[in-house]
Amino acid sequence: MPARLFLSSGDLVADRRFEFARDLQLKGDLAAAADLLMQAIELAPNFASAWFTLGEIRIALGHPDAAIAAFRKARAADDRDRHGASLKLMWLGAEQIADMPVAYVQALFDQYAPRFEAALVEDLGYRGPALLFKAVLTVRAAAKKPAFFKRAVDLGCGTGLAASAFAKEVDRFTGFDLAPKMIERARASGLYAELEVADMVQGLRGRPDSSAELVLAADAMVYLSDLSAVLAEVKRVLAVGGLLAFTVETHEGDRVILGEGLRYAHNANYVCASIASAGLRLAYLEDLSARNEDNKPAPGLVVVATKA
Ligand SMILES: C[S@@+](CC[C@H](N)C(=O)[O-])C[C@H]1O[C@@H](n2cnc3c(N)ncnc32)[C@H](O)[C@@H]1O
Repeated sequence: MPARLFLSSGDLVADRRFEFARDLQLKGDLAAAADLLMQAIELAPNFASAWFTLGEIRIALGHPDAAIAAFRKARAADDRDRHGASLKLMWLGAEQIADMPVAYVQALFDQYAPRFEAALVEDLGYRGPALLFKAVLTVRAAAKKPAFFKRAVDLGCGTGLAASAFAKEVDRFTGFDLAPKMIERARASGLYAELEVADMVQGLRGRPDSSAELVLAADAMVYLSDLSAVLAEVKRVLAVGGLLAFTVETHEGDRVILGEGLRYAHNANYVCASIASAGLRLAYLEDLSARNEDNKPAPGLVVVATKA
């Protein structure tokens, strides 16, 4: 996993107490860690990292209401919410499911970038790009069309693993990603003609109508709660006959939930309804897992939709 985000309180003594508290937390002495964090917070009341860690410890100690209070303080102390305290609040059921804070996604993946590929592929058995590749070949074979695409857009492109899987089938790749350090890695891969640090919906909004034959989103829609805006833009940007291929994590319940790993899981019916409302046609949907979570395949879907 990525290194843990630390935002200094600006007070050396408070920061030192925080470090000791983290040591105690890692050794399993949660009550002592919580005490030390409270001492740090007395010295620096707007210490976002201390409030956030206290929230996590309170969850582990079985005190959800106190955890909610700590996460609210963490968010108030950092208005960009780089720790993602609002996600913890959603996960605890204290707030409605909503979008992820942009700064949280950027901080997470900027820290993750140097060891992203090793962590995802080796530690979590990541197989999203290979699953998308197989699905796209299947859809093209069924339509008796070649699996070759002049222009492709890679949403949440990360370091370029999806572009790498499709490199021989695509002439020109454009990539969008929120995290500047992931984009740096993608640039170094040499796989993309164009790259932009951008939210995927904003990035698509800057593209002309009918300007791509393929849009990919490998393990990226899991960071969007509502799929409608991105699907509407994909529909506009795809040329007639073009394909959208993406993975999501899924669950049996209603619509969208936020999982413990702080990624959204979309119900299959919700995904199908969102595709239909965007005016796209579902061409492929399989229960396939793109990565492991706790050494088990995380329930997932591989989806291909076409623009008729
Ligand atoms: C798990 S990584 C997957 C990267 C790549 N697609 C792959 O298959 O290796 C998810 C990526 O999506 C990016 N991301 C998350 N939310 C995003 C959004 N709203 N717009 C653009 N990129 C986003 C993250 O910064 C991260 O690089």
